[in-house]
Amino acid sequence: MHEHHAFPTAVDVREVGPRDGLQNEDPIPVDDRVRLIDALSATGLGRIEAASFVKPAAIPAMAGAEEVMARIERRPGVVYSALVPNVRGAERALAAEADELQVVVSASETHNQKNVRRRVDESVAAVGEVVERARGADRPVEAIVSTAFGCPYEGDLDPSRVAAGALRLVEQGVDRCSFGDTTGMATPRRVDELLDALEDLGVVPTAVGLHFHNTRGTGLANVLAGLERGVARFDASVGGLGGCPYAPGATGNIVTEDLVHMLADMGVETGVDLDALVDAAHLAQDLVGRELPGQVMRAGPRSRVVPA
Ligand code: COA
Ligand code: ZN
Repeated sequence: MHEHHAFPTAVDVREVGPRDGLQNEDPIPVDDRVRLIDALSATGLGRIEAASFVKPAAIPAMAGAEEVMARIERRPGVVYSALVPNVRGAERALAAEADELQVVVSASETHNQKNVRRRVDESVAAVGEVVERARGADRPVEAIVSTAFGCPYEGDLDPSRVAAGALRLVEQGVDRCSFGDTTGMATPRRVDELLDALEDLGVVPTAVGLHFHNTRGTGLANVLAGLERGVARFDASVGGLGGCPYAPGATGNIVTEDLVHMLADMGVETGVDLDALVDAAHLAQDLVGRELPGQVMRAGPRSRVVPA
């Protein structure tokens, strides 16, 4: 049986809209990306995924990562992280003074090939090189295991295989792991099964981060499943920006302000000012020029009363 871990009293919400979100939108100017990040920095969020140092031709919406990092206002206490696909990306990100690097390896062989044109074992080996560079600059590295709850090409993946894959990344020296539901295949049952498989290998839920997409409407239910097991780190994107260009049918991440709103009412501390976050969601919507799926930004918080 698995040990019981207490329901968290505080949760670390990482805002991924400026990267995971915007990479799947039509490119917007660097100045607008900077405006969005600065607005998010002012909400009390502790961690913001600000850029991705990939090949610009692969993801045009992420071109100009250096300019973004150079122009944002660095709020003391806020960690600005960057995604890197390889050593070249790590060197760029460190030169641009990213506070933390994120590497992504798919649990699925097919998805990894489509995403970075490498076999999983090649990607795992490259993570070791990224870690070495990051250590030299005294920066932490987080590994995100994508398609951790299923792959659009391969279907369900055995949770014990996903968990074992994550351990290989830990062996490469990454400081922590998150598990990404790239195409919204997770349900609370799948969250439990993966957390079970991780615990069987000695990885406790309090050490795990979860990254959900709301493709099939199970996003916040999955968060609750994680919370009940003691998970206290979640990714979300403002307004629900997002997706993955290499995953058919992918939609946005879970919505940051909807998550913060739910957690606040449950007495779980996030340190985030909901009103400021809703303002940032409206800014995001204006900048991308399409209606975003965020619900609290439309309905207002549950505490809002209207005249009878
Ligand atoms: N930044 C900028 N340029 C890069 C780069 C990086 N991190 N990595 C490689 N390149 C350049 C190389 O310099 C080379 O340029 P050249 O042809 O002018 O010499 C070119 O890209 C090809 O290099 P190669 O190593 O063969 O890479 P590739 O073409 O196989 O691309 C990736 C591999 C991973 C770099 C590329 O597919 C990529 O950036 N993908 C983004 C994946 C992603 O972010 N997915 C979203 C996460 S869900
Ligand atoms: Zn994602």
